[in-house]
Order: sequence, then structure tokens, then C-alpha cells
Amino acid sequence: MSRTKILVTGGAGYIGSHAVVELYEAGFQPVIIDNFVNSRESALDGVESILGVKVPLHRIDCNDAEALRAVFAEEGNVRGVIHFAAYKAVGESIEKPLEYYQNNVGSLLTLLTVMREFGVEALVFSSSCTVYGVPEALPVTEQTPTKQANSPYGATKQMCEDILRDVAAAPANKLRTILLRYFNPIGAHASAKIGELPLGVPQNLVPYVTQTAAGIREQLTINGDTYDTPDGTNIRDYVHVVDLAKAHVVAVQRLLAGTGETVETFNVGTGRGNSVLEVVQAFERATGVKLNYRIGPPRPGDVPAIYADVTKSVEILGFQTSASLEEALASSWKWQQHLADSQ
Ligand SMILES: NC(=O)c1ccc[n+]([C@@H]2O[C@H](COP(=O)([O-])OP(=O)(O)OC[C@H]3O[C@@H](n4cnc5c(N)ncnc54)[C@H](O)[C@@H]3O)[C@@H](O)[C@H]2O)c1
Repeated sequence: MSRTKILVTGGAGYIGSHAVVELYEAGFQPVIIDNFVNSRESALDGVESILGVKVPLHRIDCNDAEALRAVFAEEGNVRGVIHFAAYKAVGESIEKPLEYYQNNVGSLLTLLTVMREFGVEALVFSSSCTVYGVPEALPVTEQTPTKQANSPYGATKQMCEDILRDVAAAPANKLRTILLRYFNPIGAHASAKIGELPLGVPQNLVPYVTQTAAGIREQLTINGDTYDTPDGTNIRDYVHVVDLAKAHVVAVQRLLAGTGETVETFNVGTGRGNSVLEVVQAFERATGVKLNYRIGPPRPGDVPAIYADVTKSVEILGFQTSASLEEALASSWKWQQHLADSQ
């Protein structure tokens, strides 16, 4: 029996590559679109080595409507799309707002236009907990009001969500979409053949932790310990990337089964909040490696604490994470060691 084709934009990236693996293992035929603006083709060697097959790749830009049309035409019978392709660095988005709006919002508009032309109706969209801004109460549910975004990156995610709601609400478009609001993805595939490839100095905690443990960075700087949290450091909901990838499989299955509403939004997190100091301690416990760290000043724009209420994803999407923080951190460390060995 032939596999159901799912187009995965940004499929060579951190989350996308893990989703490609989980989709294939669940019986789908993923087809990757990527322009490698923030990834390397070597990530796909890792995917091939895990799956034992090459996943089809189209090296194109999602802003290029003609190139997208050619992919839909060549592939034929695409049943759904997962749209990961975007720029994702909050700080950089403040420096380069035009590029962020163009790439994140522009690529979605182009993709939706071409999907409509080819009668492709199912879309899973990568949203983010940044849409909640600084929440008034924790944990945040999908009903928690979204706030004025504190960066152009966050604004692009809000705009994309609004666009998708409007497009799906117009019956002529026949779009069905699931918006997944990711909390903080960490970790790597158990094989250590794929993982996060931060280009340059990592902006996220866990790659910084593993690079410090590996001696690539001298010291981890914790951005502030005077927040209104039990130990004063930021609290986040760290979700294992393989769990997150599996949420996409469940979302695609739900869209293709046509069981849900036209537009649905789900938090994808563990429901647990962990402070930066707890992450440091969990990393040391999980790996036996001591971390050299210091406390620095708070980083502008950082939300003191956020974590997900996952009741809706559990009850309606039927999705629950399974990895512990220690397991996720151990997998990040294994990936870091693999990177060191392969260089
Ligand atoms: N990693 C996180 O912390 C996080 C949290 C919440 C939401 N997200 C969202 O999840 C998605 C995936 O994130 P990630 O961490 O895997 O990022 P990533 O940068 O590793 O992956 C994105 C991929 O998209 C590709 N890409 C970017 N623009 C493109 C374009 N115009 N055409 C074709 N390919 C393009 C990049 O080359 C890269 O391979 C993004 O939309 C991001 O905003 C990420």
C-alpha cells in the first residue's frame, strides 16, 4: 500500500528532521522542502541512517510560489503540509524585522495560496508559547489571552495564527488547520544521529549547557536570578523534541480523519515548569558532568515563568509527552558528544 504524502517545510531543521522520522515511522511518506538557510544537508544523512531510506528533498524557498507549484505538481497527491519553515531567533528578529515578517508571514501566505490551487486542505502550523507574552496566571491554557508580542518573531507567530483562522473560516478555502503552540523543545533523537545544530553562539539554554559541558564554551551564564520564581531563575516547560515530533503525527492523523473543528489550537508541552537552576542540576544528575556557571544580568525580553496546561492536548488531541527532563537532557548530551566525535 502506498504511503500518504505529507509535505514538511523546514524538514531539515531541528524539529522538522525529528518530525520527518516520526512521520515515516508512523507509515506516512514525508517529503521535505528546505532552503538550508538555518540547517545543513548533513541533517538528512542522519535521517536516512535512522530510517534506512532517503526521504525526498526539494531545495527551494517557501516564498517562491513557482517553485512551490512545481513541487506540488511533481509530487502529486500531497494530502497535507506541516509548515516548520521560518526564522526563529527572538533577538535577531528585533534587528531584522523586515526579513522576519517576509520569511515567516510571507512564506505562509505563499504556501496557503499554492495549497489552495492544488486542493490540499490540511495544514499543521508551528506556533509558539511566545504568543502568550507575559502571562497573568500559570499554567497557560489555549484560552489564555494572547498578549502584545514583545518581538517581531512573536508577532509573526500571532499574525500567522490570525491568518490561518481567517483563511479557514472562509468556506471556499476548505482549509483545516491545527496550530501547535510549542513550549521549549530540547533533546535529540535517541540514536544521536539528528539533533539541534545551533549555528554560532546558542541562544537557548540547553545547547549552551551542553557546549559548556563539552568545553566549547568556558562558562554558562544564567540570565538573572532575581525573577519572581522560587529560586529566582526563569521557569520554562522543556519538551523532548521526539515527543514534540510525535504531536505532529497525531495532528496530521486528526486532520486527515476530519474529526476536529476547522481550526484547533493545542499547547505542546509537558505541563511541568522547571527553573534554569533545576535544569543545571538535572543535567549534572543525568550525565555526571559538573557545569561551570555564573549568574549574569537578566536578559531583556525574557518572560519570568511560563509552562503549559496540557489538559486540552491530552483530552482532545489524545497526545501526552513521555520523556522526563533528565532523559531529554541526557539525549542532548549524547548528541553533543556525537557532534564532537564527527568533527
Ligand atoms: N526551536 C524552538 O525553540 C521553537 C519554539 C517554538 C516554535 N518554533 C517554531 O518551530 C519551527 C521549527 O523550528 P526549529 O527549531 O526546527 O528551527 P530550524 O531553524 O532548525 O528549522 C527551520 C528550517 O526551515 C528552513 N527554512 C527557513 N526559512 C525557509 C524558507 N523560506 N524556505 C525553505 N526553508 C526555510 C531552515 O533552513 C531550517 O531548516 C519554526 O517555525 C519555529 O519558529 C521553534
